[in-house]
Amino acid sequence: MRFRRVLALASVTLAGALLSVAAIAQTAAPAKPASVAQAKATVPAAAAAVAAAAVPPAAPLKPGDATAGQAKAAVCGACHGLDGNSSDPQYPKLAGQQASYIVRQLELFKSGQRQNPIMFGMATPLSPQDMADIAAYFAKQKTLPGIADQTLVSAGGKLYREGDKTAGIPACMACHGPDGRGNPGALYPHLAGQHAQYVQQVLTAWHSGQPWGKGPHAAIMLTIAGRLSTADIAAVASYIQGLHTAVPEAANASATAAAQ
Ligand code: HEC
Ligand code: HEC
Repeated sequence: MRFRRVLALASVTLAGALLSVAAIAQTAAPAKPASVAQAKATVPAAAAAVAAAAVPPAAPLKPGDATAGQAKAAVCGACHGLDGNSSDPQYPKLAGQQASYIVRQLELFKSGQRQNPIMFGMATPLSPQDMADIAAYFAKQKTLPGIADQTLVSAGGKLYREGDKTAGIPACMACHGPDGRGNPGALYPHLAGQHAQYVQQVLTAWHSGQPWGKGPHAAIMLTIAGRLSTADIAAVASYIQGLHTAVPEAANASATAAAQ
């Protein structure tokens, strides 16, 4: 935006200002190529920037160390449970969540892109290594499954497994997996066993148009949640709470390890 204003100003005073225009074009090039030649030259950089924005890298110096993470996570336990299975449903369970996803959320809280005053305070002092260690610890814990409301299971299950074609809602399963395990590589979070109250709160906030950050990744759930009715949200949240990961623990552990 700043570049644009500068460029607009520059074109007003264009006469005799060729030199300064050239200088400005050069400054502006990394953000917005000013000429075809420059556009060509900066394409690989721009493409890399887009790829990075889609799936932001979470590159700590060393891989996350779950043992170091356990000590660092003690402070988180007050709300999220010492093993990541929070008992108060307003706090999300972190147990069994993918390490890559936990790190990304901590970065979003720290930068203020995902807005929450409590988590802003908790994430701010953490270094990238702290984040990786804490994430490794919680990812290793086992999610304690919850119980779905029997009156909502059929509607919630249908939405989760099939979506709703007429309303333009894709099956949640397509990204979050049939058993709610998610997809660490794509940063699609683990949902199985998550508190319905928390899921409902997140989906409702997205429904009203508050994304976590910018870019195509953040837009995915905003679009989907925008199409969910209040009844859809209640049903699918309850279904998620009762969802179990139907795979042996060893497979789960290797899926998590592969993500790191
Ligand atoms: C005082 C309570 C409290 C403490 C302590 C706390 N959190 Fe949180 N945490 C929350 C709340 C509330 C949310 C939900 C925020 C929202 O609605 O966006 C949350 C959300 C999160 C999420 C996002 C989970 C998801 O599924 O999207 C992560 C990750 C997280 N916290 C990690 C941590 C870590 C790591 C610590 C310790 C360093 C910590 N929290 C300490 C209250 C707390
Ligand atoms: C095309 C892939 C895709 C589909 C389909 C999809 N999701 Fe998501 N989901 C995502 C992504 C990506 C995120 C992470 C969003 C972010 O970080 O901003 C996410 C995050 C979530 C979260 C937040 C979890 C947490 O603890 O932070 C919930 C809840 C959720 N999705 C529910 C659903 C439901 C319910 C459906 C079906 C109606 C669904 N999703 C369909 C990709 C998808």
